[in-house]
Amino acid sequence: MRWKVFSGRCVCLASCFRAQSHCHSRSEHTTFRGAASLTAPSRNLGQFMHETMTGANCVTHWQRIFEQKGISEPQHSSEYIISHVLGGKTVHSLAEEVLSRPLTTEQRQMIWNLCSKRLQHMPVQYVIEEWDFRDLTLKLKPPVFIPRPETEVHWQNSQQAAGPLFLEIGCGSGVIVLSLLHFFKQSRAVAVDKSPEAVDLTRQNAERLCVQHRLQELQLDVITDSQKLARICGPVDVIVSNPPYVFHKDMPGLMPETLKYEDHDALDGGADGLDVIKAILQLAPTVLKDHGKVFLEVDPRHPEMMQNWLQEHASLRLTYRATHRDICGKETLFLKGPSPQHKST
Ligand SMILES: C[S@@+](CC[C@H](N)C(=O)[O-])C[C@H]1O[C@@H](n2cnc3c(N)ncnc32)[C@H](O)[C@@H]1O
Repeated sequence: MRWKVFSGRCVCLASCFRAQSHCHSRSEHTTFRGAASLTAPSRNLGQFMHETMTGANCVTHWQRIFEQKGISEPQHSSEYIISHVLGGKTVHSLAEEVLSRPLTTEQRQMIWNLCSKRLQHMPVQYVIEEWDFRDLTLKLKPPVFIPRPETEVHWQNSQQAAGPLFLEIGCGSGVIVLSLLHFFKQSRAVAVDKSPEAVDLTRQNAERLCVQHRLQELQLDVITDSQKLARICGPVDVIVSNPPYVFHKDMPGLMPETLKYEDHDALDGGADGLDVIKAILQLAPTVLKDHGKVFLEVDPRHPEMMQNWLQEHASLRLTYRATHRDICGKETLFLKGPSPQHKST
């Protein structure tokens, strides 16, 4: 199992799209009493946590329950939920005295409420309603796409192409665009998503990070509203996108938690996974400044397919520059927009 650490929180690569059965470490201890009734939503499970139970005991207690119930990442699920209730991000960030103190009735009830959501396989990021991306903490709400660890590579790559105006297509929670605005203090950005929930969450996260005055959010579909987007969005230096790129036929193989809670439109890229990507590439020459750049997170099968497609669509005058492989083995494509002489021909 590989882990990526952001600001102290770890994300198992099981949070990438595909189910990874080896991430389900089932406990051999199956003697927890009362576990059989844990999934009954009407039961007040606060009663299963003894009055003298401390935060530290509670982490072990819920880890066992998650293991018994086949919940993925049982230890981290328990640690994040209990740390969240105790006012920290990780168990290690909490003082020893906080962990060794008996929980209050309110804390036990809150832990039960959150852990029972996790027992329904809700991703822990939705359970605690926030997640970290590099040094930012973002608010998260289902069904808006949960930022994946590999997306950090996007952000790093985009830094090389630092420019004052970014366009993110498919902003989701705002993770990429807000990182860019946070890092490049003089930059501005336009964030586009077809999902109203995503646009709303990006706006809320921008306010939370005090960058809202440098961000314009647009609820538009890049496939059907590309002309409108080109009219509203002036020439930009960089387009970034982590678009839906899962091949439609691969959708049933995604993790059950993803399929149950996340917006399928955030994942399903159509028959060849390229529906939204092609729309972005068709839009790019119109909205990019001279020497503008495009960074796209794509499936490992896509770089070759896209280079062929670009050759067939030479009139777009986009130049393929490089592919970077990320920590999940996924690809980030770097393309260059038309140069001035190309534009004038
Ligand atoms: C994989 S998620 C990425 C979210 C975020 N950028 C991140 O990395 O966490 C893809 C996003 O693209 C949006 N999207 C899908 N199809 C779109 C379209 N045709 N036009 C605009 N946005 C679209 C989805 O709503 C979703 O928020």
